[in-house]
Amino acid sequence: MSLLDDVNRLKQEALQLISKADSLERLGEIHVKYLGRKGAITSILKGLKDLSLEAKKSVGAAANTARAELEENLAAAKERFGKTTATVSFDPTLPGTSSRIGVIHLAKQVIEEMCQIFYGMGFAIARGPDIESDYYNFEALNFPPDHPARDMQDTFFVEGNRVLRTHTTPLQARVLEQQQPPIKIITPGLCFRNEAISSRAHVAFHQVDGFLVDEGVSMADLKGALVAFCKAFYGEAVKLRFRPSFFPFTEPSAEVDISCLLCGGTGCQLCQQTGWLEILGCGMIDPNVLDMAGIDSEKYTGYAFGIGVERTTMLKYRINDIRLFFNNDIRFLRQFK
Ligand code: DAH
Repeated sequence: MSLLDDVNRLKQEALQLISKADSLERLGEIHVKYLGRKGAITSILKGLKDLSLEAKKSVGAAANTARAELEENLAAAKERFGKTTATVSFDPTLPGTSSRIGVIHLAKQVIEEMCQIFYGMGFAIARGPDIESDYYNFEALNFPPDHPARDMQDTFFVEGNRVLRTHTTPLQARVLEQQQPPIKIITPGLCFRNEAISSRAHVAFHQVDGFLVDEGVSMADLKGALVAFCKAFYGEAVKLRFRPSFFPFTEPSAEVDISCLLCGGTGCQLCQQTGWLEILGCGMIDPNVLDMAGIDSEKYTGYAFGIGVERTTMLKYRINDIRLFFNNDIRFLRQFK
């Protein structure tokens, strides 16, 4: 083996070690081993003086190239570590800052729960625009122009005969126009009313309306559906009471009370000593509404109901101020996971 071979072998060996080096320290060791004062390449360079002129030339050239190449590689490798470790300005051994995962807003959670219950009963979901035409918000629901029942709705008017929908009931008119019975739909969504904001009222709130249209649908079907829903939502023990009421789009109309969630019906502050809490409006869809949508009211009948989401949720979770739903105070929202 010639010295020339030694130089090449040492160079290859060193390059290999450099490529495998996993720390700056290790690179330092490699430097010492090959290029240090007593390093392998250095020793060869030092011994050149004892060689023949010819060998001096060839071995010298090879050893110098090897040294230059190794230095270059060592420097490049150092940079590699420099980038990943030397400039790290944090302590990677410290525990990280965990980012908190948010919670789904309580109103959305409750809407989801209601939808799940109605899915189970065979209802499908329909959605529609928040900005609604006067026609669907009122007229198609049997509110004639100038009818005093419009006053009940405290409407926000938008230019061009449009309104912010005051309920999700307009979707009944929209769906009935597009589908033929049997129809079984719920319509969760945001509604708006021009009300003074207080602990009990807000300008925005959610409703889940529902309706069923088919042959031979009666008030008994409505009652069955609402009892099933309330038991699933409030618990088996809940009792329901139907009180006569009025809505332009249902005839007859009713409001439903449930037995007080706090006292169970004996009377307390929550139910104002009545034993009952009002939770929704409902009724049999007025034949006018069916006819206007092109559904034969001689053949088909339907029931409908509308649930106020925030109101129902406030009763279920004993929340005493509707504004909490809209303030986005995470101390409130985080309580409902
Ligand atoms: N839309 C009514 C409201 O906002 C609630 C309502 C009552 C909806 C009776 C219905 C219904 O579908 O049948 O006050």
